Amino acid sequence: MLSGKNITIGVTGGIAVYKVAQLVSYLAAAGASIRVMMTKSAQEFVTPLTFQTLSGHRVYTDLFERPAGGTVQHIDLAASSDLVILAPATANIIGKIACGIADDLISTVVMAAGCPVIICPAMNVNMYNNRIVQRNLASLRDLGYHFVEPSVGRLACGAEGRGRLADLELIIDRINSILANEGDFKGLSVMVTAGPTVEPVDPVRYLTNKSSGKMGFALAEAAARRGARVILVSGPVVLKPPAGVEVVPVQTAAEMHIAVMERFSSVDVVVMCAAVADYRPKIAATQKIKKHEETLTIELEKNPDILAELGRIKKHQLLVGFAAETEDLEKNAHQKVAAKNLELLVANDVTLPGAGFSTDTNIAKLVFPDGRVISLPKMDKLDLAHRILNEVIALRRAAV
Ligand code: C5P
Repeated sequence: MLSGKNITIGVTGGIAVYKVAQLVSYLAAAGASIRVMMTKSAQEFVTPLTFQTLSGHRVYTDLFERPAGGTVQHIDLAASSDLVILAPATANIIGKIACGIADDLISTVVMAAGCPVIICPAMNVNMYNNRIVQRNLASLRDLGYHFVEPSVGRLACGAEGRGRLADLELIIDRINSILANEGDFKGLSVMVTAGPTVEPVDPVRYLTNKSSGKMGFALAEAAARRGARVILVSGPVVLKPPAGVEVVPVQTAAEMHIAVMERFSSVDVVVMCAAVADYRPKIAATQKIKKHEETLTIELEKNPDILAELGRIKKHQLLVGFAAETEDLEKNAHQKVAAKNLELLVANDVTLPGAGFSTDTNIAKLVFPDGRVISLPKMDKLDLAHRILNEVIALRRAAV
C-alpha cells in the first residue's frame, strides 16, 4: 500500500533514534521512498550512515547545504513529500513547530510542507507532562497535526511513565491510515452517530452513560478525510467536530431517532456508534423532584432501537453497528448482527484496559453476518476508524 509514496522522516535527538532505524527499514521494504533528515543531536545517538544504508538515499542534515542543480533543499523535500513523520520528536522540535520557529532543516521542512505530518513524541515523563509541552501538543493537534502518543513504561533515564516512543506497529497503522486510502469515499454519504444520549428525569437531572463520543468523532474524521460527505449526529460531548463535517446535535434518543430517520434516505452508509440509552423515564417531571421520600421510583420505558429500525427499512444502505459488552462478547455480537440486519458489527469488551469509553484506544472484534470474525489488536480510535472504513469499502465492492 505504501509503494511509490514519498515519506520524509525527521529524526531528532532522543535515545529512541535507534528504534526509528527499524521503522525506516520496514517502510523502505514496503516500497515507500524514504528520505531521512537528522538534527545534530540525533547524530550523537546514531550516525547518518545507518539511515543512509536502510533508506538507500543520502541523509539530510544541513539547512544550508547546496545540492547540485541549484534547488532549494528544504522546499524540494517538503514539496515532494506525501507524508512527513517526526520520530522521535523531542520537546524541542515540538516547541519549535508550535511556535512557528523554522531555524534548522527539520523545522523548515515541516513549515513548508503541505502534506500531513505525524509527530511521534518520545521524552522523559516529566518533560512530557510539562504543561508547556502539553500546551504545545494541544495547539498542534488543533492545527491538524497527527500524533502517535508515546507509551507508558520504563524510560531510558530509569524513570517509569509515559514517554517511550510508541510501538512501531502503532506508527505504521497511522501511516497506513493516512496514506493508503485517499479519496476512496468520494461520492459517498456517510452518517455517523456518536456520544451518549441524555434522558431527562426532571428539569435539572438526567440519565446518561459514559460514552465520550471519541470513537464516533474519529469515524467522522476518517470518512471525511477519505472524501465522504459526512453527517455526524451527536449527543452532548466536549469534542471539537472534525473539519468539513455536518454536525447535528441532539440530546435524547428520541431526538437522535428523528434526526437519523430524516436523513436516512440520502445516505449510503450509516455507522451507529452512539451509545443510545435503551430506556428513558416514562414521565419527565416538570418541576425539580424534592427529596421528601426515603425511596424514589422512576418508571422507565423503552426507547426506539434506531439501528434495528434502519435494518428493517434499509434499501441500498450499508449498516454498521457497535456493541459495548461486558460478557459473552462474540455470542452477543453474532446475535446482534442477525437481529438488526447489519453488514458489520464492531464489538468491544468495555471492561478491558485500553478499550471502551473515554480512552483514546480501543480493542475490537469485527463481526460479519456470514459468521466471520476479525479480532483486532489494541489500536488508536482513529486507526480503528480507518480499519472499519476499509471493511465498508470491501463490503460495498463485494456487493456489486
Ligand atoms: O442492542 P445494543 O444496544 O447492544 O446495540 C448497540 C447498537 O445499536 C449500537 O450501534 C447503537 O448505536 C444501536 N442502538 C440504537 N438504538 C438504541 C440502542 C442501540 O440504534 N435504542
